[in-house]
Amino acid sequence: LSAALPDVEIHYAGSAEEAAPHLSRTQILYGWGFSADLLRKLGAVRWVQKMGAGVDDIVGDWPFSGDVILTRTDGRLIAPRMVEYVVGAILDMSAGFDVARRLQRDRQWAFFEVGSIQDLTVGVAGLGDIGSGIAQTLKSLGARVVGWRRSSTPVRGVDELFAGDESLLDFVGSSDVIVLVLPLTRNTDRLFDANVFDRCRPGLHLINVGRGAVLDEQALLAAIDSGKVARATLDVFAVEPLPQDHPFWNHPKITVTPHVCGPLVPDKVVPHFLKNYEAFERRQPLRNVVDLARQY
Ligand SMILES: NC(=O)c1ccc[n+]([C@@H]2O[C@H](COP(=O)([O-])OP(=O)(O)OC[C@H]3O[C@@H](n4cnc5c(N)ncnc54)[C@H](OP(=O)(O)O)[C@@H]3O)[C@@H](O)[C@H]2O)c1
Repeated sequence: LSAALPDVEIHYAGSAEEAAPHLSRTQILYGWGFSADLLRKLGAVRWVQKMGAGVDDIVGDWPFSGDVILTRTDGRLIAPRMVEYVVGAILDMSAGFDVARRLQRDRQWAFFEVGSIQDLTVGVAGLGDIGSGIAQTLKSLGARVVGWRRSSTPVRGVDELFAGDESLLDFVGSSDVIVLVLPLTRNTDRLFDANVFDRCRPGLHLINVGRGAVLDEQALLAAIDSGKVARATLDVFAVEPLPQDHPFWNHPKITVTPHVCGPLVPDKVVPHFLKNYEAFERRQPLRNVVDLARQY
């Protein structure tokens, strides 16, 4: 940013203490990890650009009225790696690599049936910038793809669309694999609870790449232990880092990754910020403005 904006005063802060001397004069805030307390100390701020696609850490306690704009990183810049993560998790299961690893460990040559993604119905919950990319790729690999979103806007690659709360249970009941790519909002907080898991197809593979608190972790454990859910691949958790004594760590049917599937690559996010900065300077509309009422 310093190279691209040589005339702009830019300060970097890695902690609230480092940020403190600059807060009263800051007009644009770019990054993440902003507490409500820190935001409240911004006397002159006009625009906050969250580095990252999720804004759940900031919208709940947003202290400003309508004159401060909140934008987020465009999910499409992050989507390609998340698509690969989801495809990898599904193929690992359908190709039976987990079975193969177990057999190899025991030096056992035992034939097993390999499945195909073409025999699966994959449900994608959240069909925004990232979920729609996941849906299209899964469709191109031959899966039947169903999707769930708030609105009923159709998405390319989605064979059947379920819209709104009233269709959630039908959506989960129609899927062999469910991919959660939902933002965490007051409406999605622990949305996937015991009642929802109860309606899942037996043998479900659940993949969560959105936000951890969108599902009730105890209800997921109970659904796995009862055999209803066969497997979970989780990149995000209600509390991060995942606490040392959390039962997910050594559960044989759960794969844990430490919130790595959608990394922010400077070569992609910096141009995105600069485009928005240009628009901000010209008093033109910014891209990826967060709707504070919807919380995403
Ligand atoms: N694991 C990682 O490393 C990582 C990286 C990046 C992002 N993420 C997470 O992924 C999330 C999604 O990102 P995105 O860029 O795709 O967001 P987005 O473009 O805002 O899309 C959000 C989608 O969720 C749907 N939705 C929201 N609330 C809903 C509700 N109550 N019921 C049904 N559908 C609802 C929206 O439906 P409508 O479009 O119909 O309104 C939309 O399709 C982010 O919020 C972030 O938390 C995780």
